[in-house]
Amino acid sequence: MCELSIIERGAMFITGERIAQVGSLAEIDSLIGAECEVIDAGGRVVMPGFVDAHTHPVFAGTRTGEFEERASGATYQEIAARGGGIQSTVRSTRRATLDELVAAGRRYANWFLRTGTTTVEAKSGYGLTVEDELKILRAFRVLDSETALRYVPTFLGAHDVPTEYKSRREEYVSLLVEEMLPQVAAEKLAEYCDVFCEEKVFTPDESRKILSAARSHGLGLRMHADQLSLSGGAKLAAELGSVTADHLEHTDAEGIAALSSAKVQPVLLPGSVYALGSSRYPAAREMIEAGLAVVLATDFNPGSSPTPAMTMVLSLASTQMKMTPAESITAATINPAYSLNRGGQIGSIEPGKLADFVIHDCDDYRELAYFFGIEHPWRVYASGKDISPKFLIDA
Ligand code: NIG
Ligand code: FE
Repeated sequence: MCELSIIERGAMFITGERIAQVGSLAEIDSLIGAECEVIDAGGRVVMPGFVDAHTHPVFAGTRTGEFEERASGATYQEIAARGGGIQSTVRSTRRATLDELVAAGRRYANWFLRTGTTTVEAKSGYGLTVEDELKILRAFRVLDSETALRYVPTFLGAHDVPTEYKSRREEYVSLLVEEMLPQVAAEKLAEYCDVFCEEKVFTPDESRKILSAARSHGLGLRMHADQLSLSGGAKLAAELGSVTADHLEHTDAEGIAALSSAKVQPVLLPGSVYALGSSRYPAAREMIEAGLAVVLATDFNPGSSPTPAMTMVLSLASTQMKMTPAESITAATINPAYSLNRGGQIGSIEPGKLADFVIHDCDDYRELAYFFGIEHPWRVYASGKDISPKFLIDA
């Protein structure tokens, strides 16, 4: 994870939407014909676009009121227990139309792009009815085709037990297994299924049932695991052969060993630890030392992690989890690309891959994690096209 294959004074040759050659400027120079457009990066850092492998990018409204309450001492769990939290975003998202969700999602798509992210894994989970979950997944499809951002859709109908099912939770699990999953699979609206396995949300037994059903429909598995307590999420992810186990703030040594023997990729989300005002970050060093292909992601969502910025996550990874800038960059590009089954297409600058890359206004890659709270991109490219948001083009 700490070897970045940096080419000093490098260059690349792009044809159409793909990278054709990568090498030193001298090597690429001979390929440049009169018909070529030459882009001078001016000695800046050129990197693959970030691949953000855990986001909740379509929802209605915000939770600024709860944010203010938390600033005055209320906790995330207290707010959730009285019907706020996820349920509050569920209420506003149910009221929104598909068009309204797409409009909100477009704004966030621009935020991802301007901070240098070109692919996001996108979770549903603010609908919690058949129609409202499908509405969110359809919004991802529209956004994927209308914006330059790539969306990899994940069905998260098991994000919470909706209020109307609180006293009959097993009926909600049946709804997920018997109605939602078959429709999601039939319409090919998701590639993965995720479950929030946590005390007071879904138990390991319920999670196993939902995820096993998802697997039988051909979906890959991801999990919200051990975020707020040690609830057995990491162990279950290992047992089921989940592709990833995400959060892991409370995972112990046994959990890490289980992830490592089952080759489950940990997805660490320090933005949510930070935004919840906690200091309990996941044990990134132990995971790296156990040989795990660690991933970093934003967890962009209106409650626990309202940031789309991978560079903020890189900063937190270095200062709070002691990951070096090089390890963080691996965890933000090629490792997440593999976790999304796209290791051959994105996540690095290599011949044959899609030309999704960012020219950062930095002289040294370490500046990405070091100068924090600013946007580093100078130009953003997806599929070989300059898709820099307007304010970047003016820069
Ligand atoms: O990843 N843990 C559950 N889901 C989100 C929070 C969602 C919300 O608060 O709206 C998370 O932190
Ligand atoms: Fe999440």
